[in-house]
Amino acid sequence: MRVTVLNGPNLNLLGTREPEIYGTTTLPEIEAMVRAEADRLGAVVLWRQTNHEGGLVDAIQQLPGTADGLVLNAAAYSHSSLAIRDALLAVRVPFIEVHLTDVSRRDEARRRLVFADLALELITGKGPEGYRLALRALSRHLSGR
Ligand code: DQA
Repeated sequence: MRVTVLNGPNLNLLGTREPEIYGTTTLPEIEAMVRAEADRLGAVVLWRQTNHEGGLVDAIQQLPGTADGLVLNAAAYSHSSLAIRDALLAVRVPFIEVHLTDVSRRDEARRRLVFADLALELITGKGPEGYRLALRALSRHLSGR
C-alpha cells in the first residue's frame, strides 16, 4: 500500500503556531508517528508539505500510478479551494481528509469544507492522532475490510 500524505499551508509551523489551538507537536513529529504506523501496516508513505495551492494541485495530479490512497490536510485551502476539489475529482484517488482541530466548532468560515464530501472519511479534532487514524482507515478501505 502506497500512501501519500499531503499537508497544506502553515502546517510546517506546527509546534510554535498558535499552540493553544494546534498544540506543540511539530510536523516532523507527526510524520515520525505516521511512518511508525505505516511500518506496522506494511505501507509506504510519501510525506509532503507545501504552502502553495498549486503545489497541492500538482501533488494530487501525480497520485495516479504513484499512490493507492491519500491522507489530506489541505489546511486553510480546505475551506476555499475549488482547484483542489477539481483535482481530486479528476484523479479519483481514495482519500481521507484530516484536520487537527474540530473545524465544525471554530469560526463560521471554517465550517465550510469544499471537498470533504468526496473523502472516504473526515477525521477532525483528534490532534496528531488523527493522522494515524486516517492511515488506519485508509488501510482498512484499501484492503476491503
Ligand atoms: C486545519 C484547520 C484549518 O482551518 C486551518 O486553516 C489549518 C489547520 C487543522 O488541521 O485543524 O491550517 O486544517
